[in-house]
Amino acid sequence: MTVFHLRAAGVSLVLDTRGTAASVLHWGSDLGEFAFSEDAFTPAVPPSSIDVPLRLSLLPSLAEGWSGRPAIETGHGFRTVETQVQDQILRIRSSSPDATQEVVTELELTTQGVLRVRHRFTNRGDDEFVLPNLDVLLPIPAEATELLDFTGLWSHERSPQRAPLRHGVWSRESRHGRPGHDDAFLMVAGTPGLGFRSGRVWAVHLAWSGDKRVWAERSALGYSVLGAGELLAPGEIRLAPGESYETPWLVAVFSDTGLDGLSDRLHPWIRSTSTLRKPRPVVLNTWEAVYFDHDLAVLNELADAAAEVGVERFVLDDGWFTGRRDDRRALGDWFVDDTVWPDGLHPLISRVHERGMEFGLWVEPEMISPDSVLAREHPDWILGGTIGPTWRWQRVLDVEKAYHYLLDRLTALLTEYPIAFLKWDHNRDLLTPGVAHRQTRALYRLLAALKEAFPHVEIESCASGGARIDLGILPLVDRFWTSDTNDPLDRQSIQRWTGLLIPPEYLGGHLGDGVAHVTGRTSALGFRLATALFGSAGIEWNLTGASPAEKADIAAWIAEHQRLRPLLHSGRVVRADSPDPAHLVHGVVAQDRSHAVYALVTLGTPAAALPPPIRFPGLDPDRLYTVRPIGVPPRTMQDAPPPWLAAGAVTLPGRVLSELGLPAPLLTPEQALLLELA
Ligand code: DGJ
Repeated sequence: MTVFHLRAAGVSLVLDTRGTAASVLHWGSDLGEFAFSEDAFTPAVPPSSIDVPLRLSLLPSLAEGWSGRPAIETGHGFRTVETQVQDQILRIRSSSPDATQEVVTELELTTQGVLRVRHRFTNRGDDEFVLPNLDVLLPIPAEATELLDFTGLWSHERSPQRAPLRHGVWSRESRHGRPGHDDAFLMVAGTPGLGFRSGRVWAVHLAWSGDKRVWAERSALGYSVLGAGELLAPGEIRLAPGESYETPWLVAVFSDTGLDGLSDRLHPWIRSTSTLRKPRPVVLNTWEAVYFDHDLAVLNELADAAAEVGVERFVLDDGWFTGRRDDRRALGDWFVDDTVWPDGLHPLISRVHERGMEFGLWVEPEMISPDSVLAREHPDWILGGTIGPTWRWQRVLDVEKAYHYLLDRLTALLTEYPIAFLKWDHNRDLLTPGVAHRQTRALYRLLAALKEAFPHVEIESCASGGARIDLGILPLVDRFWTSDTNDPLDRQSIQRWTGLLIPPEYLGGHLGDGVAHVTGRTSALGFRLATALFGSAGIEWNLTGASPAEKADIAAWIAEHQRLRPLLHSGRVVRADSPDPAHLVHGVVAQDRSHAVYALVTLGTPAAALPPPIRFPGLDPDRLYTVRPIGVPPRTMQDAPPPWLAAGAVTLPGRVLSELGLPAPLLTPEQALLLELA
């Protein structure tokens, strides 16, 4: 066979291996079965160009006439030597003209319609080969002229940015040694005006937790591409004869129903690979409750208060290990501080267990404080030595060199204490050139070893909040800390956009203090609760100071979360396109569309006296739904509420609810109304 047509879940991939190099002829909507016609897929030859039709191969290069960014900066082309197909996986072996370089490309179209592509490069020559780069490129059609990707900063992750795709390269590069708060995350190209529910969109994500680049290029040659790969420093990958380098997976998704259609493929695919064994427990994390001020009596009281409202997992954050009284010292000394904890963590863990909760512990294994026993004993383990400034007063530990120490220490802790969960933090950029590849691989190895030894211990990927949320680390972790801000206003946007790629059950979202610690903004309890309801829910607040009324609301919220959790963590995530940016509607609809929960959220003052109606995307048009408010009633400013809300319920077909919607109540800014449909 020379032309391959893979089809799944409304997506087609047509790949042509005729001629010298394999190329993707189509990645997008399902083309149905058809008899392939070479003529129909071959472009014209323009003037002042190469004399044969330009075909963009899987490894485009100057040699084939592609003067855009190449897949590998060697200039020469590759020729296909062998193709295998097995189920939905294609393997294509290509070789350089002198046969000293071999690339095996793997393409898989999953049953959910997600395309995964990666290359494995092998040095078949007799000399060492320094790999300059190796990227994966996919063609996208000319109609995709609008770009959406993400940027951000600490506590403002995944801030969307849009731009037209003009001739040239729009490249997002991460040199943090972690994806970073400004990670491009998902690069989306689509038809102009693309929204949550409309537009044809193509998107790529690189499943990698180190340095990377992802780009879109529209070339004057007439092709547009999305590409991504690890960002390698000069000389970072040196391959001895016979050695190989494998790129991270490029995860590529197409949707002809807007951005929600991307999640509709990504979430089921991620869930199909999930190792989560049980409902996501409601967490209480001690960070914003006590910071470094660890005291058994206070923490016991907090554990009691947590259990009283129904918390299921109590997580002891930073501050428990030798000498760690602030953020200036002690990283690396992973021994329980016996001045603060004379009997170890046992008394606290016993209390937590007695109250029916699991126990979790914070660690930051990849870091080292210059002021630590570890740094004094192993200065050679500090990545980059003392070059460059410290960051949060810490430096990076060379995980390869310290591998056995870290594995031993973590093993000792997990063996001595019944720990169900590790919050695994990473609080600075690497800032050392040429090490991100091996550091990331060493991290993956360490996580995999721990997972194997302690399969029941869950791990959360945290990096100063959400600076390491990617599909490379996902198979090794069970939760992401989405952001360090618990301010619900910021969280609405961060969760909305992070949830484009990551299903909500992986995204930690906590109820914070009334005055948000990061922003100082005051928010109503109902808004905070509604914002933290949908993901992996938790609390980050010193509950011992909460009033009885607040505790009652929190307890009711936890019970509601537990009741709705099977729906929230398995359903389809939907977001309405709103004509008013101050007015959002998002929700989760059961896969069989029998049940749904939505939130109407006001981020600010509405643009008109009457806000837009609440339209409910994703419902079964022919089914009758009864809409009921749940949760803490939001604050309103209106002379009369819409009668359906005053009545407490209304029953209508899904078609009416999705197309026409219901009149919205006039919520004041920063409020949320939760609605359940069944
Ligand atoms: C950064 C994390 O994102 C916070 O949640 C907290 O764990 C601190 N580090 C502790 O140092």
